[in-house]
Amino acid sequence: MAEQDPDLTKLLGEVADIARPTAADGEVADYIPVLAEADPDAFGIALVDLEGTEHLNGDVDQPFAIQSISKVFSLVLAMQEADAHDGVAEELWSRVGREPSGDPYNSLVQLERERGIPRNPMINPGALVIDDVLLDHCEDPKRSMMQLLETLAREPLTVDQGVLDSEQGSLHRNRAMANLLASFGNLRHEVDDVLDNYVHGCAIAMTTRQLARSIRFLANDGVEPDSGERILSPELAKRVAAIMFTCGTYDAAGEFAFSVGLPCKSGVAGGIIGIVPRRMGVCVWSPPLDSSGNSLAGRTALHELSQRLDLSIV
Ligand code: DON
Repeated sequence: MAEQDPDLTKLLGEVADIARPTAADGEVADYIPVLAEADPDAFGIALVDLEGTEHLNGDVDQPFAIQSISKVFSLVLAMQEADAHDGVAEELWSRVGREPSGDPYNSLVQLERERGIPRNPMINPGALVIDDVLLDHCEDPKRSMMQLLETLAREPLTVDQGVLDSEQGSLHRNRAMANLLASFGNLRHEVDDVLDNYVHGCAIAMTTRQLARSIRFLANDGVEPDSGERILSPELAKRVAAIMFTCGTYDAAGEFAFSVGLPCKSGVAGGIIGIVPRRMGVCVWSPPLDSSGNSLAGRTALHELSQRLDLSIV
């Protein structure tokens, strides 16, 4: 591991000092009871470069539910199948689009209007279709997900049972979405099996440090940088990053492209992951969200970081 850069450590402290107080203007998600219990003052930021050097600030070792960040890794599992078998990619992209939604991640209206074809894999109905595809190809998709994340985080991981139970009890809208998909013939498996897979991904607990490590392979042409293990082909790694860039932060993806300029994905527990191509993986965590459902202090921190280090890819 290369030595830490003291200037970068200092800069990260300055970024954290600017971002942290902005959390006071956000709201912790409360539509799932257990999310409302999050500490609004928690804050962590981690940069892990391709050599394995970790620059950290704040609560970087406190686990939280990855929530919709799991949608990136479900897509990665599906893309691994597309790398391995002809026809998977064509089938998948006929069932889910690749355009930003411009609507909330759990919109039923858009799904109805567009006859059961979700706009992209980063919104809930798109992720449900991906989970359905995984049920076709993986013997045990939940185990495949844990194995992928443990390979990338390089540490054992667990599922937060409290979050899982709370999610299971708050599934009305996701169930409605799954039923709507099924009514348009865009689910092959039982609604309950697809939802089971979906909520499992949301409830996986990871830390800010682990998430920053885990996303580095997308900054490294699909290769996990510590082990050299290929996770995805360079072509498909690039495509997952492109979908994060255009669709990863709900209907604020345009604002993120404008103010951060990096492929990102957020989750309602306040985590945001980002990719700096050929340089590093980034994760910020702060539970209070803005009106689009993205971590407010997380968004501020990524903006500051991108400006100060000139990280934007555009
Ligand atoms: O309600 C849900 O579907 C979640 N538990 C996941 C939410 C999330 O992070 C936002 N989704 N795109």
